[in-house]
Amino acid sequence: MNILIVGTGYVGTTTGLIFCEHGHKITGLDLDERKIQALKGGSLHFYEPGLQDLLKKHTQARNIVFTNNTEKAIKENDVIFICVGTPQGADGSADLTFVKNVAKSIGQHINRYKVIVTKSTVPVGTAEIVTSVIKENQKAPIPFDVVSNPEFLREGSALDDALHPDRIVIGTTSETARTIMRELYKDFHCPFVETQPKASEMIKYAANSFLALKISYINELARVCDKLSINVNDISKGIGLDQRIGPQFLKAGMGYGGSCFPKDVNALIHTAKQQGTPLSILEAVVKVNTEQPVYFIEKIKQALGGSLQNKTIAVLGLSFKANTDDTRESPSFILLDRLLEEQAIVKTHDPMVKSGASHQCMTIEETVTGADALVISTDWDDYKHLNWGRIKPLMKQPNIFDGRNMVDKERVKELGFYYIGVSNH
Ligand code: UGA
Repeated sequence: MNILIVGTGYVGTTTGLIFCEHGHKITGLDLDERKIQALKGGSLHFYEPGLQDLLKKHTQARNIVFTNNTEKAIKENDVIFICVGTPQGADGSADLTFVKNVAKSIGQHINRYKVIVTKSTVPVGTAEIVTSVIKENQKAPIPFDVVSNPEFLREGSALDDALHPDRIVIGTTSETARTIMRELYKDFHCPFVETQPKASEMIKYAANSFLALKISYINELARVCDKLSINVNDISKGIGLDQRIGPQFLKAGMGYGGSCFPKDVNALIHTAKQQGTPLSILEAVVKVNTEQPVYFIEKIKQALGGSLQNKTIAVLGLSFKANTDDTRESPSFILLDRLLEEQAIVKTHDPMVKSGASHQCMTIEETVTGADALVISTDWDDYKHLNWGRIKPLMKQPNIFDGRNMVDKERVKELGFYYIGVSNH
């Protein structure tokens, strides 16, 4: 099948390359000339493990081509995936400007029957909006169908998630479109959920919000455990082994970040409010998440004698999680802002993010030299297996604040470090 992917971000690029792996011919369309030029040359404009090699493989084999020629791309392809961004609007709702722009272009250039698939995370009702916008912009009534097919890949493990999904959700009212989607995904061995577009759109928000809920639950519980000197990791293990609960997304830390959970939880809260049925559980999820970095900073402050003024703090990790260079809504930046407000002297490090800020150091050693404390804010493996014996003499005071509960606390205590994690007793 000739497939067009509109939007060459994480989701679009990964989806396109996965379809190449399954033998399809892909065109990637983006209005950003720099992205297109980079991709044409086989180079990825973001960091995602494994994806660069796949891009090289399929650009060289011409299984995927990139363009910014909207009209030609729409006319030549039969299935069009919309993978553009849906940023958070001022009122918390998802901003559909980019999705509507794509729908408008499709309406203007549609030349034969096509299946239009929304893969972007879009609010309930968007399939209907896309349908209307296409119809409004058509010169002649050419038939088309709209499908909701949300994506569940995670940054940092995008390739593996997209190659081996837990399920594929297809929301459409059209039997023709459903058959085409089944054919497209015929080599994927996972359950299929076939439903109406609205339900499919809701599944995506409900999934992200539920995962965010698990994280806020364990983070709030961690604060109680902290008071009771209980190790919250043992609680995660103890409850996670119950198959009804499951072990994933129960890691206490500094709160969830990224381009999805914060935005999507807010968007679902917004949708629910519009329906006059507020989702009080999710409102609490957001509250706990906002408080979590503050709770951790208070612990650092108390341990350092009640003030952070002129204290040198080494912050290890800027990305919102390991294996990505994405810093959107990263708890590290909440931490940084707060440390600067408290007049601390900040030094930062990240293996992938090059912020260009004057406080960023090239090496971990340089970052911790002269520090009164080091804070682990991103769960990069690089920070897990540090040579602590070498780190200690570089620091002014041997304090470790482990915002990800990832350091071997017994080992560092033996070496004479003072260690505080997130209820990691
Ligand atoms: C998330 C979902 O996991 C994907 O299924 C979804 O497709 C994606 O959003 C999306 O909507 O596009 P992502 O934001 O890439 O993926 O990253 P996650 O691995 O879900 O992590 C989100 C945040 O939660 C990170 O800040 C992470 O550090 C934090 N987290 C995760 C915890 O604090 N504890 C955990 O146990 C797990």
